[in-house]
Amino acid sequence: MPLETETISSKLEEIKDKCLVIAFFEDKLKLNNEINKLDNSINNVINNSIKNKDFKAEKNEIKSFYINNKNLKYLTLLGLEKEKDFNLNKLMEIVSNLSRKLRSSDINSFTIDLNSFKNKKFNNEIYLEKITQAIILSLYQFNKFKTKDLDKIKTIKKVSIIIDNKNLKNSEKIVNEAIIYSEAVNKTRDLVNTPPNIATPEYVANDAIETAKRNNLKCTILDEKQIEKLGMGCMMAVARGSSNKPRIFILEYKGNGNEKPIVLVGKGITFDTGGLNIKPSSYLTTMKDDKAGACGIINILEACSKLKLKLNIVGIGALAENMISSSSYRPDDVLKSYSGLTVEVTNTDAEGRLVVADAISYSLKYKPKAIIDVATLTGASIVALGYFASPVVGNNQKLIDKIKIASEKSLEKIWQFPLWEEYNDLIKSDIADIKHLNEGIDAGVMVGGIFLKNFVDDIPWAHIDIGNTVWAKQEKSYTVKGATGFSVLLLLNLLKDWK
Ligand code: BES
Ligand code: MG
Ligand code: ZN
Repeated sequence: MPLETETISSKLEEIKDKCLVIAFFEDKLKLNNEINKLDNSINNVINNSIKNKDFKAEKNEIKSFYINNKNLKYLTLLGLEKEKDFNLNKLMEIVSNLSRKLRSSDINSFTIDLNSFKNKKFNNEIYLEKITQAIILSLYQFNKFKTKDLDKIKTIKKVSIIIDNKNLKNSEKIVNEAIIYSEAVNKTRDLVNTPPNIATPEYVANDAIETAKRNNLKCTILDEKQIEKLGMGCMMAVARGSSNKPRIFILEYKGNGNEKPIVLVGKGITFDTGGLNIKPSSYLTTMKDDKAGACGIINILEACSKLKLKLNIVGIGALAENMISSSSYRPDDVLKSYSGLTVEVTNTDAEGRLVVADAISYSLKYKPKAIIDVATLTGASIVALGYFASPVVGNNQKLIDKIKIASEKSLEKIWQFPLWEEYNDLIKSDIADIKHLNEGIDAGVMVGGIFLKNFVDDIPWAHIDIGNTVWAKQEKSYTVKGATGFSVLLLLNLLKDWK
């Protein structure tokens, strides 16, 4: 059952719930009138714990009191640290830790006082959006494949957010949008977490079909025969080693007549063994996450439709499995891409750029005003930036600047890398038009980018390499272990404000 989120505008002392949460800045440990009134009705636990230094409002400090009166079972005080050090990333982290802590202590609903977060830096609209997102995203769990002890799984069923009465109408809109964003992320996490024996290219394509039906999107699926017939030699080469046949989905959202669309292209490798250049054991696990780009795009299109954006958007997912068999493609093969360019294969583990290249070329028929591809393309992204921010490269600074603004709003970090012409020298081939990879390990992110640049004509294009942000080894802020859904919030923020 999905978590229910609502806004209310009652007085604190009238709140009836399992738990009421009030936040304090470390350097503003004073009770306003309303909190004082509440405190009087609960034996001054707030004033006393502040006086006794039981609660100091340090960052992530969470102190719960058993009240058990006719309104409240618990009161929880939440520390926000000093006001001047506070920012939205900290807000997300603090609310995420709070949500999970309450869930683990068997509380299945709580009310949180938005006004207690108020400060000079941000307006309440942004707080409301981010708090809603933090709650829904941090409470994500993937239990689809558990059959035992299901009754022991703890969940929070309802969260109420106290807001100013005068903003009520606008607030409902903000919460509804935040729910749409967060559900798009959580559904992406579900699909990416689904194991590779189940989430085959056909399965992911079916998810696109079902999503389209629910949201009035146009959905076209290209199957193996059509992909072959169209001459997508790069896509077919990667797919050939697997008995799970490839698919390409094309989802179309029309929100603005006959305007040129924005195209989103996603890498959808349902499992990446590396092919004949097989990965070492420790690199094989989690390679089900190699489909994340495509999975995100399905849910972004659904969200765009729910948000009724005034844009035309085409989402394309290149779905295949990179396996080993007698029909696998090999290093030394020369492939004929859909664009006509011939490509010399040097390492079958660099399969992502091959499927994305053909999908990008295919997208040109929509005469896009911009192309953005999202792909778990390289481990080099981890070397370059760690796990915090994803590399972005492209051929159009205006487009990249838009993505940077969206990144700041969404709090999903990106960092631009150069795509100097010189990088083309690294992928010169002796026998074909280009190689898909250089010999060394130098400039891994840029080489992936410069290869793709050969397929975009002169359309404004950006490539986001989510190889380093797709998967979380541990819980951190609003992400939990496993698939993160990274890029969904970023791209939704980009599309929502597109000009
Ligand atoms: N899917 C991988 C990239 C990846 C690695 C994503 C780790 C997430 C975590 C991609 O297909 C790949 O194998 N890339 C190779 C490229 C190499 C052969 C140039 C890599 O990064 O090692
Ligand atoms: Mg690979
Ligand atoms: Zn891959």
